[in-house]
Amino acid sequence: MTGKLKFARAALIAAAVAVASAGAVGTAQARTAPPKTDIVGGSLASTAQAPWAIALNNNHSPVPSGQYCGATLVKANKIVTAAHCVTESRSSYTAIQGRDSLSSTAGKTSKISKIWKDPQYGRVAGHDVAVMTLTTPFTGVATLPLETSRSADAVGAQSTVYGWGDTEQTGPADRFQKVLVPVLGDAYCGDVYASDGYVANGEICAGYKEGGKDSCQGDSGGPLVLNGRLFGVVSWGIGCADAGNPGVYAEVATYATALTTQINN
Ligand code: ARG
Repeated sequence: MTGKLKFARAALIAAAVAVASAGAVGTAQARTAPPKTDIVGGSLASTAQAPWAIALNNNHSPVPSGQYCGATLVKANKIVTAAHCVTESRSSYTAIQGRDSLSSTAGKTSKISKIWKDPQYGRVAGHDVAVMTLTTPFTGVATLPLETSRSADAVGAQSTVYGWGDTEQTGPADRFQKVLVPVLGDAYCGDVYASDGYVANGEICAGYKEGGKDSCQGDSGGPLVLNGRLFGVVSWGIGCADAGNPGVYAEVATYATALTTQINN
């Protein structure tokens, strides 16, 4: 039994209770910690500087702002997110662009007309990627190109993750944040997450061995950016920012062919 947490906000509570009742001591904190309200250990970011960062709200989100997951604008009418973020009904989602504080009404919004979830997701490890089509394209907004080279996933690569997720009290709630998370490498996560199904060909291990800075619940689906490209998609971790438990990201290069097919159709 592990405490692997790969749930968007709405699913987190039920999942934590299910795991706790199954007797997993290691995850009790996820259930009993005070309500967490963005990225842990990060700093305020600006959607003016990261216009391709999309907040993916959902009507069933447990937080008042509706904040649920993140996503990335890769074409005027296409966003890439995590497969585990697309389990709710299509009409319950709203994509939001250009809104630094989710308590404001700044920026553009769109409903979703189509959802593609990697068909292998849930059957085999990895594959935590999905593409949503926007009803109202975010025309004129800068998009992020996909990383297509698997060699980008190299130890020490300086990637940055963005999102509106949980800060674990290290920052304000519902504000757009970013944090630098260097690539730790497949060998490290293959070791610390050996029993959690980490897959080297399909996932990226990034963060700090000592903890302190990480993505967290609500950041899922959002962008891990390297060299101006979409390098990873926030996927899972055990807890957030804990020593020895770094963040795991879907490796965009591994799925780039499948994603590109969806983005172009
Ligand atoms: N699964 C989480 C979500 O839905 C993301 C968890 C990322 N965890 C981490 N420790 N980096 O928001």
